[in-house]
Amino acid sequence: MFEAFTLSFRKDISLVELPQNKEIILQSSTRKLAFSQPASGLQTALKTLYDTGGTATELKQLVQQADGIYGMLKFHSYLQKFISLGWVCHSVLPFATAVPQVWEYEFSAPVVDCQEQFFTLSRFAYLHQVEGQMVLESPLSKAKVILPDWRGVAIVAKLSQPQSCSTLVSEIPSITLEIVQQFLSLLLATQMLSQETYKEVENATLAQWDFHDLLFHTRSRQGRHTNPTGSTYRFLGKIEPQPVVKPPMSKTVIQLYQPNLERLKTADIPLTQVLEERRSIRNYHSCPIAAQQLGEFLYRSARVKNLINREYSNRPYPAGGGLYELEVYPVINTCVGISSGLYHYNPIAHQLEQLCERTKDVEALLKDAWGASGQQDMPQVLIVISARFQRLSWKYEAIAYSLILKHIGVLYQTMYLVATAMNLAPCALGSGNADLFATAAGTDYYAESSVGEFMLGSQSTDENKPEASG
Ligand SMILES: Cc1cc2nc3c(=O)[nH]c(=O)nc-3n(C[C@H](O)[C@H](O)[C@H](O)COP(=O)(O)O)c2cc1C
Repeated sequence: MFEAFTLSFRKDISLVELPQNKEIILQSSTRKLAFSQPASGLQTALKTLYDTGGTATELKQLVQQADGIYGMLKFHSYLQKFISLGWVCHSVLPFATAVPQVWEYEFSAPVVDCQEQFFTLSRFAYLHQVEGQMVLESPLSKAKVILPDWRGVAIVAKLSQPQSCSTLVSEIPSITLEIVQQFLSLLLATQMLSQETYKEVENATLAQWDFHDLLFHTRSRQGRHTNPTGSTYRFLGKIEPQPVVKPPMSKTVIQLYQPNLERLKTADIPLTQVLEERRSIRNYHSCPIAAQQLGEFLYRSARVKNLINREYSNRPYPAGGGLYELEVYPVINTCVGISSGLYHYNPIAHQLEQLCERTKDVEALLKDAWGASGQQDMPQVLIVISARFQRLSWKYEAIAYSLILKHIGVLYQTMYLVATAMNLAPCALGSGNADLFATAAGTDYYAESSVGEFMLGSQSTDENKPEASG
């Protein structure tokens, strides 16, 4: 099988000839191999791998003719080395090319039994267009498969149902059994197929991964790809970054109560007590939370403490890069002193900007939260947290969304602790409707939509009658 593939260097391997030193240098981003005074057959084989590619048999014949049997054996071991370094693409021309996505990845193709076996595409494999070519990828694979010919795409489409080699040969025009065999071997080598005898659902670990979760996990962490990751600033000079805080959304504002932090530093209950007493509470006192309490809660958990160079800020919770992409939207059901409706929290002015009254969408947001929390009390205040996505993705590549979810976690915990210290009833939620929120708040779904929800209200026990502190 190995002999049948056309082998070529990955596009990110460079080949430099130094005639004065009679040297050929091959280089990846992490490694350099120098061949000093290479024999003529070896030189030609290396250049063929770099240019057009060739099968292992063709390349070895070429070296043997020029350099003899020992030259060929030496080349064979070099070829093995290139493959084990993840430098070599394997192609079934013109249908498919497997390109390693990582270094040190060894492509190893199994023999396909065309008599007995049936093949199905893995549910984790996905086909998409990249720079004008169809590319098959999978979070299970350390390689991607480029499909330049439509018949390759047609084979992949057929593989949504179990297929034998012979059905593929009979249904795809102008394709031989040998090509189908190689194509399937390449898909098996790159973990794109699940054979009918091996069902992914039978593997309890994989069965519990959603496709999108596993893809997100593999692409937002390092290890399974060599894509750019982290603070790459790829839009610098091309697109303006998002501002440090969102410009005001409405002229109808409510100035919120600002607690006396100096007094709270001594009056607050100790940290250990807050941590030990923190719990999720989904029932409320009949007397709703008051505007003063909501003001104190937002000030202590989400305000801008100070701006740095008008680009970054400090807030009570930490955030990657100091960028603070999260926005806080209180949805008021019942609150003494604030009428029911949807508001945006301005974290610099410490104001609520009213976006709308209690519309059908506002009602639906509250009802969703009530459903997600076991249909107990309707939240008195539902705090919807949205993300201005481009505030992070302008700077960070591959990890922007995973950072947002981490930020939601630290904000939730800050809100839980502040609510506990204030004797309020807090409860985080794990799901919410981002489309509904975008419609209610009038945001562009792709620029800013909801990523978290947090319920807040007055505590129901008599001894904890809600009272503003601070
Ligand atoms: C990220 C996150 C998501 C949650 N989602 C929900 C939810 O959708 N509905 C709900 O009633 N509680 C939800 N909770 C609250 C948990 O059920 C609660 O934290 C857990 O049972 C532990 O109880 P405790 O918070 O009282 O210590 C969530 C908590 C977190 C941190």
